[in-house]
Amino acid sequence: MIDGTPRAAQPARLVVLISGRGRNLDAIIRAIESGLLDARIELVACNRINAEGLRIARLAGLRTAAIDPKAFADRESFDLALGNRIAAAAPDWVVLAGYMRILSSAFVQRFADRLVNIHPSLLPRYKGLDTHARALANGDARHGASVHFVTPDLDAGPLIRQGSIAVDRGDSHETLADRLMQRVEQRLYPAALADLVDGRVVYRQGRVWRDERIQEQCPHVDYDTSVDE
Ligand code: GRF
Repeated sequence: MIDGTPRAAQPARLVVLISGRGRNLDAIIRAIESGLLDARIELVACNRINAEGLRIARLAGLRTAAIDPKAFADRESFDLALGNRIAAAAPDWVVLAGYMRILSSAFVQRFADRLVNIHPSLLPRYKGLDTHARALANGDARHGASVHFVTPDLDAGPLIRQGSIAVDRGDSHETLADRLMQRVEQRLYPAALADLVDGRVVYRQGRVWRDERIQEQCPHVDYDTSVDE
C-alpha cells in the first residue's frame, strides 16, 4: 500500500466491458470466487447483444447490459449512453476485457484514472489488431500480453504488468493465441487487478507508482516457468 493513498472500500467495485468470448471475464470471476481478487463485478457491459461472454456473465449471476451501437447515431452518443450505465454502477475500476470497440476520447477522459485494458502483445510492440500473426511473421522468440491504463492513444497507456510465453516452432496464430490466453492472459489480468484493488499499484498524474516509486520497469512474468500466479 502506497503512503497517502486513500484505499477504496473493499471489495472493489468493477465494471467489466466485453465484446466476445469472455475468457478474461471468466478468469476474473474465478479469481474473485477463489479469494485472489478482493472485488465484486457490479456490471458486465457489452456492445454485441449475442456475445458468448454475456452467457458467462449471466451464468455467474452478474448484472449485464448489452447495448447495440446500431441504435445510436454516432460513437459519441453510444459512448455517452454506455458511460451513463457504467457510472450508475459506481465502479472503482472499469475493466476492458476483450472490448473491441474504439473508445471516444470523452469516454476515456470520463473514466481516465480507473480505466484498464489487456492487450495481447508485449507493448509497445504490436498495437492494434492481429498481434499473434504479427509476432509470428516477425519471428519473435517470445510473445505476451500487457495490462495497462487506458489513455486516448490506442494501446499506449502506462503499463501495469506484462507476461510472456515462448513461441513454438509449429505455432499457428490460433495455437499461439489460445496458449497466450490460457497461460498468460487469464493469470495476468487477475494479478494486475489485484495490484490495483490492494493498492500496490497507484496511477497518479499519468504515471504508474509501485512500492512508493515511479515504476521504471513494468513487472514481467515468464509464464513458461512461473507457477505462482
Ligand atoms: C483477448 O486476447 C484480449 O487480450 C483482447 O481480446 C481478446 C478477448 O478475449 N483484447 P476474451 O473475450 O476475453 O475471450
